[in-house]
Amino acid sequence: MRSIGTRTRSRNGTAQSGPFVSAPPSRLFRPTWAEVDLHALHRNLRRFKGLMPSGTKLMFVVKGDAYGHGAVPVARWVQERRGADWLGVSSVEEGVALREAGVRLPILVLGSLYPFETFLAGVQYQLTPTVASQSGVQGLAEVARRVGARVKCHLKLDTGMGRIGMGWPSGLEVARAINPANGLELEGLYTHLSCAESDPAFTRLQLKRFMAALGDLSREGIRVRYRHAANSAAALKVPASRLDLVRPGIAIYGLARGFEPVMTLRTRLVYLKTVKPGTPIGYGRTFRTKKAARIATIPIGYADGVPRRLSNRGHVLIRGRKCPIAGVVSMDMTTIDVTAVPQAHAGDEVVLIGASGRERVGFDDWAKWSDTISYEVVTRLGHRVPRVYR
Ligand SMILES: Cc1ncc(COP(=O)(O)O)c(C=O)c1O
Repeated sequence: MRSIGTRTRSRNGTAQSGPFVSAPPSRLFRPTWAEVDLHALHRNLRRFKGLMPSGTKLMFVVKGDAYGHGAVPVARWVQERRGADWLGVSSVEEGVALREAGVRLPILVLGSLYPFETFLAGVQYQLTPTVASQSGVQGLAEVARRVGARVKCHLKLDTGMGRIGMGWPSGLEVARAINPANGLELEGLYTHLSCAESDPAFTRLQLKRFMAALGDLSREGIRVRYRHAANSAAALKVPASRLDLVRPGIAIYGLARGFEPVMTLRTRLVYLKTVKPGTPIGYGRTFRTKKAARIATIPIGYADGVPRRLSNRGHVLIRGRKCPIAGVVSMDMTTIDVTAVPQAHAGDEVVLIGASGRERVGFDDWAKWSDTISYEVVTRLGHRVPRVYR
């Protein structure tokens, strides 16, 4: 595909396109693509790290295919740039994919606790498992016997999330069992905060419980190298949560205030027509033109992750103007009312996520329009949309 326009750099260093167009990947038959600005991601990592105390390590959370950004290219880039000390994934599969792609950074598997046989593959791929039960510890001890080597693990405590994690003091028994006699080493103790963004009092309570558990361990002479609790919101807002290591995800992808957006999503107008007043548009005829209108079609739909809830609610950007989604988002196509942009023609770039002129649409807008959170919309961006790395 021909690329149109020039790439420029904005004052804050963000890669930007010429006025309203940019260069899609060269071999693209359907002109729909997501751009991932790895430089912006790296700046976000540097900025985040700069806000933490100097000794605090950073575990960059790349689960969910790096929140839809592509775990392998993102993790490789971070490794090359020494942008993080650790990576966090949700499953052994996610960790194995990174190892097979040459990622050597320490990787903590945040989930995937059962069945315990998965520990074997995890350990063989030098992934650090999470344990959160006595039977998990026994399963891991068995793996340590089989591989004939000391296995490090992190013990997870539930301090108020109600998801995986040991309560206390039952967790103390489990911590005691993680010892060299069982071929194990307790490298980390961690917890997850359920409302760091919204409830400082409950966050403080969770941290208090966590610190009390650490106090008990210390009285027993059990020391852990990494005590960690903070996701992006906690690390940014609650200094007491930073401890030895922080685990940001969302902020590094630029989906928190103060950080640069990393992903843009673009397509092109592929079809336009002028219709009469009263013309129904799309499935279910949920939109009807009030006057003569220009209706354009773009080749992207809910199979690509565009929430169907954006139907008759969201907008896209064309030539720096907001253009409303008219009718329901269908599986592979979406219809746009471009009446307000008379110059619009087939081939014009359409920004679904990103900036055009003075306007911007973010994943937070998609989340608002579809009554969910930006985590959900960004991780749902479909595999059918090629990611292009800058
Ligand atoms: C255990 C754990 N730590 C850290 C994170 C990163 O959270 P955030 O993306 O809010 O920074 C997550 C994400 O859900 C998580 O599950």
